Amino acid sequence: MGEERMYFDHTSELGENPGEKDAPDAVSPDTVEKAPLNDQGYLEQKEERIRYFRTKNLMERVREMLFCLVGAKKNMSIYPPHHSICMDSIFTFFQAAKKYFQLANDFSLRIVGEELYYEEKLLTRESLLYYSLVKDCKEKGVGGITIYKGLTPEEFADFLYLFSLDPAELQKRGGLKSLLGRRGIVHIALADPGTYEEIPKEEMIRASHREEYFNAIDVIKELAEEVVAGKKLKISKANKVVGSILNRVVEDRSAVLGLATIKNYDEYTSYHSVNVLILTLALASMLPLDRSALMILGTGALLHDLGKVTIPTSIVNKAGPLSSAEWEVMRQHPVVGADILIGQPGVHPLSVVVAYEHHARYDLKGYPTIKEKRGISLFSRMVEIADVYDAITSDRPYQNAKDPHTAIRYLVKNRGTAFDPLMVKVFVDMLGFFPVGTLVRIATGETGIVYDQNEGDPMCPRVKIIRDSSGEEVEPRIMDLTLLKEKVEAAGRSVVEAVDPKKLGIDTLQYL
Ligand SMILES: [Fe+2]
Repeated sequence: MGEERMYFDHTSELGENPGEKDAPDAVSPDTVEKAPLNDQGYLEQKEERIRYFRTKNLMERVREMLFCLVGAKKNMSIYPPHHSICMDSIFTFFQAAKKYFQLANDFSLRIVGEELYYEEKLLTRESLLYYSLVKDCKEKGVGGITIYKGLTPEEFADFLYLFSLDPAELQKRGGLKSLLGRRGIVHIALADPGTYEEIPKEEMIRASHREEYFNAIDVIKELAEEVVAGKKLKISKANKVVGSILNRVVEDRSAVLGLATIKNYDEYTSYHSVNVLILTLALASMLPLDRSALMILGTGALLHDLGKVTIPTSIVNKAGPLSSAEWEVMRQHPVVGADILIGQPGVHPLSVVVAYEHHARYDLKGYPTIKEKRGISLFSRMVEIADVYDAITSDRPYQNAKDPHTAIRYLVKNRGTAFDPLMVKVFVDMLGFFPVGTLVRIATGETGIVYDQNEGDPMCPRVKIIRDSSGEEVEPRIMDLTLLKEKVEAAGRSVVEAVDPKKLGIDTLQYL
């Protein structure tokens, strides 16, 4: 983690974005042909537009309500009900609810399988982000929560308190649903599990992907606990996780890469380890490596930071700069990690090497000092890239997360010194120079979010256009930038440049 501080410090030195050198600021929107308009009547178009903005506004409010609901629920499970933090989060929830109930009379959430739905709309991202809510509902026999206009703060606080009780306690008291009735909570209703009978196949697959992701998180946490307790590690569990994630990567790399965007501020190291596993295996799947090599690499990737478990959290999570003594401790984690792993039956020596070398750098200027002239192993070079990419794109006590494009630029800028240039190239080919989720301005002057990659052309992704050339919000549509490429590049300009979403006040995730 201190090592991520180092990466962050270097981001201020980021070089020019190759796509920015030829920024398309001088390109008039008219220089590129636009898609022809549909032959619809003016009124019809206007109605459609109003409908779109109304729906969009409602979904924004839904997401806000959900965010505040989960926040209040979390605080209620940590602090006593009358603690000021609980009171504040209830107040925040009611501010969001006030805006929401201007648009609808009830707020209805459903849990289907592992997914969270608003009405019948699947909330893909929220299902991932608020998995704890989904899990809690399932454990407490709740299939859905409906909140009605007219809810009072007292009812809501009472509901949160009851919801924070553990399943055994709830069962003893007759179940959550009956408790609400007995306590006079009339503006919240709970549905039984399994409200929707059929779950589409694609969603089932996505849910099982996510289940595997969280299973991997549980396993890495268990291993960390075993290290702390000085127990023998259950390496077979780690191998099982690596095998199942590898199968998913082979089946559908893009879908699994989506999982690697899940972050958790409070439990950074566990989520980081699993994300590094996914990113490394996705990178490795671009190379001609056999399955046994991929398994060894995957185990090294998943366990690369195990040595951090022994470092005090006051150092790992320190918001400010580390003192030199603290740095010394932090720099030990690759050696400590390798020491832990080398004594474990079932861990291949090359996996141990990955833990030992993951901060040594391609040019050997990192730590610990490596004297072999042949340099660090190929596996270590791959894990190093995945490690830094995930670290830069994560929120930490000492840094705000950077967007994926910034992380890619950092890797590209430091190829040949910190990173293996060939592996950086493969990594960029895989994720794109503008990874999914990057906010970009394209040569037409319009703004959009990278939606998908065009294989073999990392500079020209497919983009979801969200604003026109004058900055006005438009109904999203997908544009394939390879279609612009010839004309724009012939004029000596680049097709696309990254834009800081914070500067434009855009939440890119809501469009994905
Ligand atoms: Fe590390």
